[in-house]
Amino acid sequence: MKKINYRKSFFVLGLFLFTVTGAIAQTPVLTLDFTKPGAHVSPMLYGLMTEEINHAYDGGLYAELIRNRIFKDNKTTPEAWSLVRKDSNSKAAIKLIAPIEEKISFDERGNAINGALSNCLRLTVETATGQAGIANEGYWGIPVKPSTTYRASFYLKGTDRREPPRWPWEQKPNTPALPVIENNTAGPIMVSIESNDGKTVYATGSINLEKSIYWRKYELTLSTGAAVTPTKDARFVISTNRTGVYYFNLVSLFPPTYNNKPNGFRPDLIKMMAAMKPKFLRFPGGNYLEGPLITDAFPWKTTLGSLEQRPGHNGSWGYRASDGLGMLEFLQWCEDIGAEPLLGVYAGYSLNGDHVDAGPLLKPYVDDALDEIEYVMGDVNTYWGAKRAADGHPAPFKLNYIEIGNEDWFDRSNSYDGRFNQFRNAIEAKYPQLHCISTIADAQYPNMKVATGKKPEILDEHYYRDSWSMWENAAQYDKYDRNGPKIFVGEWATREGAPTTNLNAALGDAAWMTGMERNSDLIIMSCYAPLFVNVNTATATAPRAWQWDSDLIGYNALSSYGSPSYYVQQLFGTYLGNKIVPVAAENIPVQPRPISRRDSAAGIKIAPLVPTVFYSATMDDKTGTLYLKLVNTTGKKQPVNINLNGAGKILPEAMMYVISGSAPEATNTITDAEKIIPVSAKIKGVSSKFKRTLEAYSVSVFEISISK
Ligand code: AHR
Repeated sequence: MKKINYRKSFFVLGLFLFTVTGAIAQTPVLTLDFTKPGAHVSPMLYGLMTEEINHAYDGGLYAELIRNRIFKDNKTTPEAWSLVRKDSNSKAAIKLIAPIEEKISFDERGNAINGALSNCLRLTVETATGQAGIANEGYWGIPVKPSTTYRASFYLKGTDRREPPRWPWEQKPNTPALPVIENNTAGPIMVSIESNDGKTVYATGSINLEKSIYWRKYELTLSTGAAVTPTKDARFVISTNRTGVYYFNLVSLFPPTYNNKPNGFRPDLIKMMAAMKPKFLRFPGGNYLEGPLITDAFPWKTTLGSLEQRPGHNGSWGYRASDGLGMLEFLQWCEDIGAEPLLGVYAGYSLNGDHVDAGPLLKPYVDDALDEIEYVMGDVNTYWGAKRAADGHPAPFKLNYIEIGNEDWFDRSNSYDGRFNQFRNAIEAKYPQLHCISTIADAQYPNMKVATGKKPEILDEHYYRDSWSMWENAAQYDKYDRNGPKIFVGEWATREGAPTTNLNAALGDAAWMTGMERNSDLIIMSCYAPLFVNVNTATATAPRAWQWDSDLIGYNALSSYGSPSYYVQQLFGTYLGNKIVPVAAENIPVQPRPISRRDSAAGIKIAPLVPTVFYSATMDDKTGTLYLKLVNTTGKKQPVNINLNGAGKILPEAMMYVISGSAPEATNTITDAEKIIPVSAKIKGVSSKFKRTLEAYSVSVFEISISK
């Protein structure tokens, strides 16, 4: 099967181009062999990988609209918050109250709600000649849509300002006392979604503040009218016309969520993922699992329960994670998209290069992973299973795969051997049915084998490449040892285009996927990364939303879109059989790829040849449907002869789904979201020998009915 007829050439590049072009005249022939039973396609082949990167959750899937809702995103300023005064004669100010480290200033004392909600925002209204208040800019805007109801909530306490006596050592000589501010906070307070200049109010409501110097939670709904024009140029405002000192915490605003779940997800993004038919969701990372420091590893226990108990934590991509999307939400996300969790457990290595040695020092981390697994799949009689039930999900989640760490090849101390085995032994002792995945793959890192102890059952390989490299290596798994561990391609992508990938990247992806699909007896799972990107560029008050170019699904506060790569994933996930059909290929055209710096360093002067047509075939043996996938990476139409040997009765009418474009750089964007999408068509004339011409720069999937 799958033998490519590379034509050899000893010509230099310019002459060689001519040679190859001349040689292309022969039409490629693909012969599908139905006479030999093919291997099983892994039922878990295509899944998703996720982590908090590019504002994937906060400012992405997690529907919360308020940025920095517990005032911990920045240690010195109330990031994303500003003072609003409707009348410039009002005297008002805001201040972040953040008792950092041991230094707690006089002002900042006594305002924590609890250990998690230790910071807050203070609004001081000395004179109010109109509304004065606080505004939140959201995650690059607050989305306003017509006939939409938002749920707002916040903690607030109102007090006065009278200088209480200070300790002698806090007295500063000659400091005049601050003027007294009367506590008139009790009464109605306005809550609204309005344009950034405050001139247009899209939705508004008011709520009565109690006369209380204690924290109280307030909740209300805000609804937009039917005539509202959608916009993201809006802000969320809480304002008052009465003097006093107002403290705010856990300020929240949710639009309608997927299935109306509280603390839920953006419906558009859930639907886009579900349309890919993913079989699993790898979470929580990626680098996000590991954290910049050991103390920043994904703290799953403090992501549970009510939002009041979630302090958030330092993420791995330069911003803090709210942990509103925490452990239970990850699991619910799996349910929402019909995928099973593939859980990455922290294995004692973090991004700064620190690790915890195997042995007694690592035991608490192993125990933590066992607790985490129990939270996912333990029954309600277990400690953590009962906790999950108390959190609202008594039924255990399905769990089969545990990944121990992430990219531990970065740990140059070679400690993974001991760490992996300690985790694996403990996990398998308690849960023999679970499959543990090693993050060091022999093929990628032959000198870093997890050699002692049992051979790992599954290895996670990661590939971030350009399209040339994808095309060149699309057949790499054809040659893998079938007696070794199974392979999980846990992160991969063709990295061309930003923030989302372009058509050329999609052609690289599709070629690569044909290789994984043909070899899915070995490649039991795979997932593209990164999945999400908030596509906003920097503004005067917020940095660029993304840290990683080349992502799959893009969005801003208002809308979302799929890259060409997304549609390739969707096609490959949707049209997939359960048996591999062996394919023999002849006359596959090739083209020279540019000489890379690595080639030059290795003394390679002749451009290596890379195929331009890629293929895979799978069959659903229950429905008798053949799925044939073909990729043409060039700008010319490409005829292909297709033989279906021993197929039985073939229906001459079939379906064809094609993704193509006029140029490799063609792409989708937030403002031109559907430039490259699959086009479906009925085709005729399918038989045991038929010919099709592939579009330039195209991925084609044929859905052919066959009966015995
Ligand atoms: O996908 C982006 C990053 O790439 C992941 O966090 C990490 O595992 C890999 O290096």
